[in-house]
Amino acid sequence: MNTPVYDYLISYAESGTLRMHMPGHKGKKTGNELSEIFRLDLTEITDAGNLFSDEGIIAESERNATELFGTKATFYSTGGSTQCIQTMLALVKREGRKVIAVRNVHRAFLSACTLLDIDPEWIMPEYTDTYVSGQIPLGAVEEKLKAYPNACLYVTSPDYLGAMADIRTLVDLCHRYGAVLLVDNAHGGLLPFYSENRHPVHLGADLCCDSAHKMLPALTGAAYLHVGNERYVSKVKEAMLLFASTSPSYLITCSLDLCNRYIADEIRKRLADAVKWTDELRMTVEKRYVISYPAFDREDLHFTVNAAKSGIKGASLAAYLRENGIEYEYADDTYIVMLFSPCDDHDAYLKVADVLMKADFIPEYPKEEKFHLPPPQKILTIREAAFRGYEEIPVTKAAGRICASLDLPCPPAVPIAVSGELMTAELAEIMQSFGIEKVRVVKA
Ligand SMILES: Cc1ncc(COP(=O)(O)O)c(C=O)c1O
Repeated sequence: MNTPVYDYLISYAESGTLRMHMPGHKGKKTGNELSEIFRLDLTEITDAGNLFSDEGIIAESERNATELFGTKATFYSTGGSTQCIQTMLALVKREGRKVIAVRNVHRAFLSACTLLDIDPEWIMPEYTDTYVSGQIPLGAVEEKLKAYPNACLYVTSPDYLGAMADIRTLVDLCHRYGAVLLVDNAHGGLLPFYSENRHPVHLGADLCCDSAHKMLPALTGAAYLHVGNERYVSKVKEAMLLFASTSPSYLITCSLDLCNRYIADEIRKRLADAVKWTDELRMTVEKRYVISYPAFDREDLHFTVNAAKSGIKGASLAAYLRENGIEYEYADDTYIVMLFSPCDDHDAYLKVADVLMKADFIPEYPKEEKFHLPPPQKILTIREAAFRGYEEIPVTKAAGRICASLDLPCPPAVPIAVSGELMTAELAEIMQSFGIEKVRVVKA
C-alpha cells in the first residue's frame, strides 16, 4: 500500500528547500530531544494538502484507509475520538435528531453535548457489578426509538472493559424507526481485522469512531471517523472543522498513513498470533483468576480480570502489577484491564501470566452485590449546568445540589452523575467508592 503523506514528508525533508514558513523549529535538529522528528513535522504548504480538503496527499491516504476498513468513507482526526464524537453529534444535530444515549458514555460525549447544547435521553444499561459496563436493554431502546422517531442512538462499544454490544440488532432496531446508529468504537480499531469482521460500520452502523492510537500503531491523538451511511460522506470534513485546530498535526496524520501500510501488510498475521496468545494466557491464569466474559461478545485484546471474584481487591492487584513492572490500563476495586495490541510480542503475554500466577494472596471474596445506579434526575440541561457558576465541595455534602461538572475517574471517564443532574446521598456514596472526594456543584 502506498503512503502518500509519509512519502511527501520525506521528500520535502530531503529536498533542501529553504523553509520560509511555519513551524518555527524549521525542521532542524535543535538539540531539543524531540528534534529528530521535527524534520517531518510540516504545515499546510502548497503540496502538503490539507486535512479538510477532498484532494491532495491526505485525502489520498484517507482513501487507502477507506479501502482497508471497507467503509463508505474514512476520515482522519488528529484530535482523537473526542473530535470524531463532536463531529458525529454535530451531523445529527444539524438533522434535528433527538440523541438517545446508552449511559456508560465517555466524557467526550458529555463535552460534545455541552458544546452543541444536546440534551440526551438516557438508556440505563443493565449493570451487574460496575457502572462502567452493562448490557444494553433492547426493550428500552425500542421504546425510546418509538417515542422519538427519526432519532439517533449513541452507544459505546467496546466499552472500557472490552464488552461489545449487539450492533447488528441495534442497527435493525434503529433503521426500523428511522433512526441512525452512532458508535463510539474508540476501543475497537482492530475489529475489522480479526478472522471475523465485527467492526460497527461493517455491521451497519451509520457513523463510528475508532481511536487508532488506542489499539493500533499510531501516535496519540490519531483517530478515524468512519462513515457507513452515504448521506454523511460529503458532510464530515466541514463538520469536523467546527472543532478542529487549523493546524492539525502532520506527524499524527503521517502515523495514520503508515498505519495503513501496517494494516495492509501485517496486521492479520499479527492479530492471529495475538488472539492465540491471549487465549493461552486466559487458560493459564484462569486457574487462579476470574476473567471477564461479557454477555454478548468481547474485544479480544482487552484482557479484563475480575479481581473481586478472584478474591483480591482490584487496587491491591493493581499495586502488585506495578511493583512487578506492569502498568495496566484501568483498575478499580472490581476490575483490572490490561490492553494488548498486535505490536506486543509473545514475551508480554508470558510476563503477564508469570506475574499474575506468582501473586501471593489468600483469596477473600467480598459479598456479591448487584451494582445499582439510580435513574438520573435532570434539573438543568448539561450545557446550562456546565456554564453556570460552580463551587467545589466535599462529595459528602453534595446531596440535594446540582452537578456542575464532575471529576470523573479517568480512565474510564464514564459518568456516575452528569452535569445538570440532582446529586443524591446514594450517588455521593457511589462516587466515594470510586475514590471521588470532591464534586463541582452549581452555585446556590
Ligand atoms: C470509550 C471512549 N470513548 C472516547 C474516548 C476519547 O478518545 P480520544 O482519547 O481518542 O479522544 C475514550 C478515551 O479514553 C474512550 O475510552
